[in-house]
Amino acid sequence: MSGQHTLPDLPYSYDALEPFISRQIMELHHKKHHQTYVNSLNAAEQAYAKTSTPKERIALQAALKFNGGGHINHSLFWKNLAPSSSEGKGNGGVLRDGPLKDAIVQSFGSFENFKKEFNTTTAAIQGSGWGWAGLNVTTKRVEIVTTANQDPLLSHVPIIGVDIWEHAFYLQYLNVKVDYLNAIWNVINFEEAEKRFLEAVNGSKL
Ligand SMILES: [Fe+2]
Repeated sequence: MSGQHTLPDLPYSYDALEPFISRQIMELHHKKHHQTYVNSLNAAEQAYAKTSTPKERIALQAALKFNGGGHINHSLFWKNLAPSSSEGKGNGGVLRDGPLKDAIVQSFGSFENFKKEFNTTTAAIQGSGWGWAGLNVTTKRVEIVTTANQDPLLSHVPIIGVDIWEHAFYLQYLNVKVDYLNAIWNVINFEEAEKRFLEAVNGSKL
């Protein structure tokens, strides 16, 4: 289907995040799930352009929110991951000394405590959703927040987002969400996270 939005390429190969996220998950997640959000967003926008009444436009709001959020969130998620340093493949999992680490330590006491609090909060999501480390633009502090379904993060500037839909982990981790959450820190791209953090504290818009 043609449309304004297109599926972005992954910045690494499908097997690059192994053993923490399997090739099978990455292929399905990117080629099938994300592609479907892109296709459905384009369809909803095309339908919206043809509407002539408020009622017709209101009827499309849910599809725009769900598929638009799915496209935004997954586009962010792929860039938020990187091949693991512990596997000798890349920089994933390494939080260098710098402004993001300083902000995390300021808010959570330590990097380890940050990950622990993130996992506890995120594991408690009921149903599908996303876990986030986001910048509170008022306090300039990093906070842990969650969103339901495919709702994008609007209350904070997203620094790190983790997909908590079962399609993100079930084929590898089955029902053990906490194992997925523990594993994913090995492939978080903290360089990308720090870039977002610096853009956010320097006053970028939400
Ligand atoms: Fe997903």
